[in-house]
Amino acid sequence: MIRSVVRGTGAALPRRIMKNADFEGMVETSDEWIAQRTGIRQRHIAADDETTASLGEAAARAALDSAGLTPADIDLIVLATSTPNNTFPATAVEIQNRLGMHHGFAFDMQAVCSGFVYAVTTADLYIKGGLAKRVLVIGSETFSRILDWSDRSTCVLFGDGAGALVLEADEGTGTIADRGVLAMSLRSDGAHKDKLFVDGGPSTTGTVGHLRMEGREVFKHAVGMITDVIEATFSQAGITAADLDWFVPHQANKRIIDASAKKLGIAEQKVVVTVDLHGNTSAASVPLALSVAVADGRIKKGDLVLLEAMGGGFTWGAVLVRW
Ligand code: UT7
Repeated sequence: MIRSVVRGTGAALPRRIMKNADFEGMVETSDEWIAQRTGIRQRHIAADDETTASLGEAAARAALDSAGLTPADIDLIVLATSTPNNTFPATAVEIQNRLGMHHGFAFDMQAVCSGFVYAVTTADLYIKGGLAKRVLVIGSETFSRILDWSDRSTCVLFGDGAGALVLEADEGTGTIADRGVLAMSLRSDGAHKDKLFVDGGPSTTGTVGHLRMEGREVFKHAVGMITDVIEATFSQAGITAADLDWFVPHQANKRIIDASAKKLGIAEQKVVVTVDLHGNTSAASVPLALSVAVADGRIKKGDLVLLEAMGGGFTWGAVLVRW
């Protein structure tokens, strides 16, 4: 059986760090409120010369380096983003060009904060279908460009950044002892559109628009939706929370992460948390968290790793990977 095995990871963050206290003169908020309600302490904010394409390219190059590969080895780039450089062409194609890659194919995926989870499952199916052997899966975002900087209920929550994985086709035995992507569950439900959306777009206003969120409403649904897809993934793989080595959740709010882990019975020391450092970077949050935990030696070859995300749409999903 063909398995999509992780060969490398990489990350890129904008140079500028914005601390919670930096918001205190801009909107009515405090470091204490932000830290207590979300777990966020800082986020990176892109300068004019830092874009979804440039950050995505840097993360992709880092992932290729860690895999010992070059762009010539890649057949497909899947970029998860809701903040593309342009309405079209796809930013994935721009990254392809920046990498000097003029073979293969590249496209963007739009599932907001669940984008990276959707992109990993898509890459896995392209590999299993024989259309690609090595795929760069990137999550890259510049949410700072779509924030309403006068709205304290949203502007303090998000940050910019990018993370990437290289997935490669390998032969497996078809059991969960294999390395690679093992199980997945994806969901969406457009009935929740108005709880988290951007109030502009090419076909409606002709503008880019700003992010709008009813945070409390999103929070109310988050834990139930996250645990549903994770339980579906566990039952596909025939495992329980006790079998996991690492839980790498979407980094939106430490309270959502804690409540989900508790409901699932995942021990606190198995949970990778980077929301304090990066804020919510939407589709970049899971690969950024993965890169941190791989770089500091926590996630090692053979570990069973669960990825999860939930966001605008709503969209939500989980992927189980043996590293
Ligand atoms: O990545 C996509 C998924 N997104 C999420 O997962 C986000 C989910 N939602 C959340 O993380 C939380 O709901 C928030 C962090 C957005 C808000 O936390 P909360 O505990 O749900 O607070 P709340 O919305 O119920 O607001 C409590 C109070 C309100 O004041 P009143 O009405 O009680 O007087 C808000 O106006 O906090 C106020 N507030 C703030 N105060 C200081 C809202 N934002 C701020 C702020 N600073 N930045």
